[in-house]
Formats: sequence, structure tokens, C-alpha cells
Amino acid sequence: MNETIQKNLKYKKYVVDSNLQYFKPHSTKIEKTFADEISFSLNRNSKFINPKYFYDKKGSELFEKICSLPEYYLTRTEIDILKNLHSNLSEYLDDSFRLVELGSGSSVKTRLILDVLGEIQNKIEYFPIDISEILTESSELLQRDYDDLHITGIIDTYEGGLEFIEKYDDKKNLIIFLGSSFGNFTTDEGKIFLQKINSIMKKEDLFLIGLDLVKEKKILENAYNDSQGITAKFNLNVLSRINDELDADFILNNFKHVAKYNEKEQRIEMYLQSLVHQSVIISKANLSLKLKQGELIHTEHSHKYTIPQIQELMKITGFEIKQKWLDIHKHYSLTLASKK
Ligand code: AVJ
Repeated sequence: MNETIQKNLKYKKYVVDSNLQYFKPHSTKIEKTFADEISFSLNRNSKFINPKYFYDKKGSELFEKICSLPEYYLTRTEIDILKNLHSNLSEYLDDSFRLVELGSGSSVKTRLILDVLGEIQNKIEYFPIDISEILTESSELLQRDYDDLHITGIIDTYEGGLEFIEKYDDKKNLIIFLGSSFGNFTTDEGKIFLQKINSIMKKEDLFLIGLDLVKEKKILENAYNDSQGITAKFNLNVLSRINDELDADFILNNFKHVAKYNEKEQRIEMYLQSLVHQSVIISKANLSLKLKQGELIHTEHSHKYTIPQIQELMKITGFEIKQKWLDIHKHYSLTLASKK
């Protein structure tokens, strides 16, 4: 048995073909179930639902739609920057880098980075890390379009996947975390997460992070209150998910999507507001919920940053910034960093 396998004994390996394999933990740390988390997060004065629960099948489809909304500048701006950084990014790369992505994309963004690598490498290695088995679908989609792409999917939490990478081998990694997904973390969680990434990085590894920037309030609020009401559907869908999976009786029409920019905290705050005084039964969470008229259920924070804040954040979590790229309107940023 070689060392790689020995060190990653807690994972089971699934080989699909010579270009595609997955690792999945035998057993994940005992995680709280959806029912447990909901019974905790809704059975209190300030009610919330963790944004990770947005992404069931329907929710993921709605999110894809959000990404191409005219008001949702984030995705297309990040894509524009990625298209422009091409030759610039390749200066930092050579044929020994593998691509590691936090959150698996089959999307145009992953492809843009794969294209950069493809110009300097004959054989590209791609390690997506995602808790969801969606990873298998997106990997197969990528394989159709890239001949010499070798995919090793890690179906685990980001933390678990990062530890897996650390132990896997000595190859250089370009770790990417796009889409301003980082914005969902609180300030403290975010720092801990960046420190985690930093701690598993080798000296030669690189980290590329996409972050949304502070800007005019109107632009921010429009991005989360689109005129077609897709973001509202996305937000409300989490209640349908609770209805379906936890045997609940939420009436979606009794709730309103709310998204506001909190200037002091520099974040979009999303809520579901109860339009009436109502009670809701969530059978599998053993909960009979009473909601007052006007009461808010918090569903998401989406933090926005200034350039100096990004520099400070990277510095205090152990990174050295190599380069940053912005779009012409300075709406969005990509930052490339190494370990200090
Ligand atoms: C996936 C967390 C980056 O915060 O902009 C989009 C999610 N929520 N519209 C974001 C989201 C409402 C998105 N992130």
C-alpha cells in the first residue's frame, strides 16, 4: 500500500475511468441533521436558517438563474476579470500546478482557469472539493470538453477536502475560491477559514479568491431584489424545502423576501418576513412555530469588502498578495496570494 492511500484511509476511492475518480469519507464526522439544525435555529427569538440549505435541486437551479440576471453583476463581472487576467495569471504558473477548487464548478469560470492551465500544460489535473454529489455531474460535463483533464473529486466539507489535499502529495496547488462565496462567512469564521487554507498550503502554492466590493447601495440592493423576482423565489424556496424534507406546512404566500444593505456591517442581509401572525408545524423538527406579523427569519449575510480590508484580511491570515485584478467599475475583485 502506498503512502497516499495509507494517509487517506478514512476516504473510499471510486474510480470511474482513467481520467475520473472520487474520494469520499467512509463516515463524516457526525454532523447535525437538517432537522436538528432547523429545530435549533427556528426555535429562538432571533430566528435564522443557514444559507447552505438554499441549495437543494430547485434552489441550485434558481441560483444559476440569479447568476445571469442583469442586476446580479457579480457573476458576469468575475467572468470578465477572469477573461482578462489570462496571460497575467499564467506568469505565476508552470506545468506542475494542479487546480483545486472549493465548490465544484462546471461553469464558465472553472473553464476559464482550465484554459489558462491548458496553455502551459499537456495534462491538467483538477481537484474539485464539494460536499454535494453534484460534483460528479459537473465533473462529467467538464470531461466532455477537455481531453487531457484528470479529475479527482473530493466529496467532503471544504475543511476535510483541504486536509485531504495537504496529505495527498507534494504537487503544487492553485486553490481557487470564486463567486464571493466567502461573503457568507461572518468576520470571525472567514478569518478562521482563510487561516485553514493558509495552514495547508505549501510555500509554492497559490490561492485565488473572488470577493465582491463595497459600492453604491442602490446597485447592491438591486442585485438582491431583481425585477423578475428570482432572488425572492430562491429565498422562499428554502421554506418549500423544509416543507418537503421536514414535513412542515409553511404557506409561502405568507412570507415576503427582504434584502437590505447594512452599511455599517458592509453586508446584504436577507430575510423572510412573516406577513401575518401565524403558526407553522415542522413535524420532523418537533416544532410548532409561532411567528408574529412582521417577524423576520434571517437567511443570509453577503459581505462586501474594500481593497484595504482585503489586504488586511489576507495579511493577518498569513498571506502575501501577489496581484489583484478589478473590473473597470471596481465592482468586484480577484486576489492572488501565496503563503507568507
Ligand atoms: C453564492 C453566497 C455568493 O451572496 O451573492 C445570491 C448567494 N444570495 N443572491 C451571494 C446569493 C442571493 C451569493 N453567494
